[in-house]
Amino acid sequence: MDYAIETSGLSKEFITPRIIYRAIAHPFTKQKTILAVNNITISIRKGELFCLVGPNGSGKTTFLKILSCLILPTRGNAVVFGYDILKKEDKVKAAIGLIIGDERSFYWRLTLRQNLSFFAALYNLNPLQSKKIIKELSCLLEIEDMLERSFQECSTGIKQRLAIARGLLGDPQILFMDEPVKSLDALLRRELNIFIKDKLIKERGKTVILITHNLKEAEQLADRIAIMQKGEILACGTLAELRAKINNPIGSLEEAYSKIIVD
Ligand SMILES: Nc1ncnc2c1ncn2[C@@H]1O[C@H](COP(=O)(O)OP(=O)(O)OP(=O)(O)O)[C@@H](O)[C@H]1O
Ligand SMILES: [Mg+2]
Repeated sequence: MDYAIETSGLSKEFITPRIIYRAIAHPFTKQKTILAVNNITISIRKGELFCLVGPNGSGKTTFLKILSCLILPTRGNAVVFGYDILKKEDKVKAAIGLIIGDERSFYWRLTLRQNLSFFAALYNLNPLQSKKIIKELSCLLEIEDMLERSFQECSTGIKQRLAIARGLLGDPQILFMDEPVKSLDALLRRELNIFIKDKLIKERGKTVILITHNLKEAEQLADRIAIMQKGEILACGTLAELRAKINNPIGSLEEAYSKIIVD
C-alpha cells in the first residue's frame, strides 16, 4: 500500500512560558506542559481525502504543523510522501502545500498579484510559469478582478481565497488545509469543496488532509474521518465505520462525534 503519510507515536508537548514574577516567587514549582498531540499512529493513503475534526484545542493544527515541518515533535516520527520529517525537511516541504488562514503571512500593502508572484518565486517558478499559474488559480478562485488590489483592502473571504491559491502555487502532492473555507460564502464553499474532490483528488490524484469544524461537509467530502480530542485520535474510519462504532447504521457524523467525544 502506498501511503502519503505515516506517523508513529507522534507527540508534541508544549511548555508554557512562566511569568517572570511567578518564576521568582516559586522557583521550584514545575513548569506547566500541554500535551497537544498524544501518541498518534496513523497511515493516510495517497489520493485520500482525510478529514480531521475535533473540539477547539484538540491538537489538529499542531498535528498538521508537525507534518509540515513547522514544529518538531517531542516524540515519535512521521514520513510524508516517503520523506522522514526529521531528516528530509526540504523534500517534505516541496511535497506539501499548507493552507492555513493566517493573514499575517501576507504582505498587506502589496497587491494580490504581487503577493502571489512573491510566493511563486519562493517555489522557484520563473516569471512565465508564475504568470500562467496565477492566471489559472485566480480564475479558479474567482479573484481575477481583485488581483491589482492591495491585500489590506480585501474582505476576509478574498484573503482566504488568496491563501488557497498560494497553497496551490507549487502544485504540491499533499495539501494540508486548516479550515480553508470558514469565511467563504455558501456558494463558494460548495464550489471549493467540489474543486477539492473532483479536480485535486480525482483528476490530479492529490492527497488532502482537511481540518474542519463543519461536520456536514466532512461527512459529504471525506473518504475517512478522524475524531480528535485532547491530542488523541479517539476514532478513525469511513462514515460507515464510525456509524458501526455507535451502533447506528444510518447515523450522521454529528451523532458519532457527539457520542465519541467524551466530556
Ligand atoms: N505554540 C504553542 N505554545 C503553547 N501551547 C500551544 C501552542 N500551540 C498550541 N498550543 C496548545 O496546544 C493545544 C492544541 O492546540 P491546536 O491549535 O493544535 O488545537 P486545534 O485542534 O487546532 O484547535 P482549534 O479547533 O481551536 O483550531 C491547545 O491547548 C493550545 O493552547
Ligand atoms: Mg486549529
